[in-house]
Amino acid sequence: MLFVTVLLEVIWIHAADGGPHGQDDWPASYPECGGNAQSPIDIQTDAATFNPELPALQPHGYEQPGTEPLDLHNNGHTVQLSLPPSLYLEGFPRRYVTAQLHLHWGQQGSPGGSEHQINSEATAAELHIVHYDSDSYATLSEAADKPHGLAVLGILIEVGETKNSAYEHILSHLHEIRHKDQKTSVPPFNLRELLPPQMGQFFRYNGSLTTPPCYQSVLWTVFNQRVQISRDQLKKLQETLFSTEDPSELLAQNHRAPQPLNQRKVLASFIQEGTAEFTTGEMLGLGVGILVGCLCLLLAVYLIARKIRKKRLRNQKSVVFTSARAATEA
Ligand SMILES: *[C@@H]1O[C@H](CO)[C@@H](O)[C@H](O)[C@H]1NC(C)=O
Ligand SMILES: [Zn+2]
Repeated sequence: MLFVTVLLEVIWIHAADGGPHGQDDWPASYPECGGNAQSPIDIQTDAATFNPELPALQPHGYEQPGTEPLDLHNNGHTVQLSLPPSLYLEGFPRRYVTAQLHLHWGQQGSPGGSEHQINSEATAAELHIVHYDSDSYATLSEAADKPHGLAVLGILIEVGETKNSAYEHILSHLHEIRHKDQKTSVPPFNLRELLPPQMGQFFRYNGSLTTPPCYQSVLWTVFNQRVQISRDQLKKLQETLFSTEDPSELLAQNHRAPQPLNQRKVLASFIQEGTAEFTTGEMLGLGVGILVGCLCLLLAVYLIARKIRKKRLRNQKSVVFTSARAATEA
């Protein structure tokens, strides 16, 4: 019996030993977490394909999400704000309406916190606004495991100089829901201000939920432009909530590591800055190319010149010879 207990403890310790929140062990319980179209990803901008046919993204109703207070919930994994289905996105073949938004973050003193990365660079936190295809499905949970059932907006959050008043509508209520399963109400506010000012530059790819059961049902949109919150706001996000019903475990580091891209494509709605420029290597190559080209040209000119001179010399010689012979014969 003691042996069994010890064995179980060993297994448990190993199960907990998979990075933040044991994410390496997710596939054992949730097979789709080991699939080949998982999120988040590290977006390499020079491998993204510019697609001029990607329609512009237009949020509707975000400025005034009704008059009813919105539910803010600590579910032990994140802080989540419920959203009414009157808000929707234009820019997809079907209508995607909002269900909820939530955040991912790191912890004080360690870098990173966002789920998506751009050119291997993580930011301090990330906002996800979750939408579902309401043309095809009645609820979020019905859509969640269907192909293209969900559309999620990913907004990278970094630390800036000033307090972000839009994010403060959420962050100022965190102390009311410090423990897991606590809820509070938030007066409706302008959700458009949570998004980057310029929404024209974004990346699009097919991916998944970033938490179990990791359904591969998400049309992802990750904005190139970031938003900023203050250092104090980030600290509040990192240090207020608990993932437990008692104040024993801080809710932090709730971001999943980047997943393999595999065969997927990442589309970009814009032309990358810098793609028209040459890298140092290309510059060097170009330089050497030009130099070799010049040398070849010089050599060719030299050889031609030499040939012409020789020919002229030979002609002169034969003129001298014939005139000499003419002289002796005379
Ligand atoms: C996502 O997958 C669908 C096929 O299921 C494909 O038509 C579409 O082009 C993909 N989108 C991207 C961004 O690769
Ligand atoms: Zn998320």
